[in-house]
Amino acid sequence: MKQTDSLAVTVIAKQSNGAGNVLLTLASEDDQPLPPFAPGAHIDVEIPGCGKRQYSLCSTAANHYQICVRLDARSTGGSRWLHQQLAAGDGLQISSPRNHFPLPQAPRTLLFAAGIGLTPLLVMAEALAARQADFTLHLYLKRADELAFCERLATLGPHAVIHYSSESDSLRQRIPDDLKQPHNSALVYCGPAGFMDHLQQLAQQQGWKLDQLHSERFRPSDAPRLVADSAFEIEIASSGARFAVSADQSIAEVLEDAGIAIALSCEQGMCGACITGVLAGEPDHRDDVLSQHERAANDCIVLCCSRAHSPLLVLDL
Ligand code: FES
Repeated sequence: MKQTDSLAVTVIAKQSNGAGNVLLTLASEDDQPLPPFAPGAHIDVEIPGCGKRQYSLCSTAANHYQICVRLDARSTGGSRWLHQQLAAGDGLQISSPRNHFPLPQAPRTLLFAAGIGLTPLLVMAEALAARQADFTLHLYLKRADELAFCERLATLGPHAVIHYSSESDSLRQRIPDDLKQPHNSALVYCGPAGFMDHLQQLAQQQGWKLDQLHSERFRPSDAPRLVADSAFEIEIASSGARFAVSADQSIAEVLEDAGIAIALSCEQGMCGACITGVLAGEPDHRDDVLSQHERAANDCIVLCCSRAHSPLLVLDL
């Protein structure tokens, strides 16, 4: 599997962007152009002592990247380090952009963001505006002081609708009329787990089909497992080598122990770095990154968290 390239960048600006958020602007250390990206893409950021963290790209200029980071009360070190330790002028190691949350093609697009979930959806909204598409961006915040990207949202005009729960306008208190009209539409959403779970439930009640829904999570969903994990085998298609995966191991761990290089980043089934083709066998999908369509096809698997329903999986490695 191809490893994601590592890039050395410099933080050329660090600024507040709504209460609790910092906007980091990154440029390459050697002044070379950074790789292009499409709306929905994210990068890994290497955090000293913590490993890699994933952040959506929200830049508009071609010669730099921007990421907007919320100081997370449940931070495991990533957002705290970026807020409190990193300074303008410092270097950072990042990955090339990766995109498992592309903007779907549909006659009409509804974008629903909560909090910092705005970052990928703002870039999507700007892309839709540029091609004069039929779309609306709904942004949900607790209070007005949390609003980020004020000027960019203003350029979207009536296509951007901002809802404040402090003004009794949360998704639980009022369902926007356009969410009641799923015909010929795609629904794209990003935000905290509670918001996303509630929105998906509402959408399905309003008649949206699963293949119309497109989302990206910040954290792995914690749906309870109803059956215990069991052991299975994997086969490497290129060599025919077989390895046992015990009930308490992941496929990624077994491959790494065997010295087989795979791309890993979040290791929580969210970023898509470790997606690998499946040539035979039935995956037990446990990730938050594959689409419904990809799951149904059963021809790829997220190695860091998914398992097997069949006794053997043949991996395209
Ligand atoms: S490493 Fe991120 S999905 Fe597997």
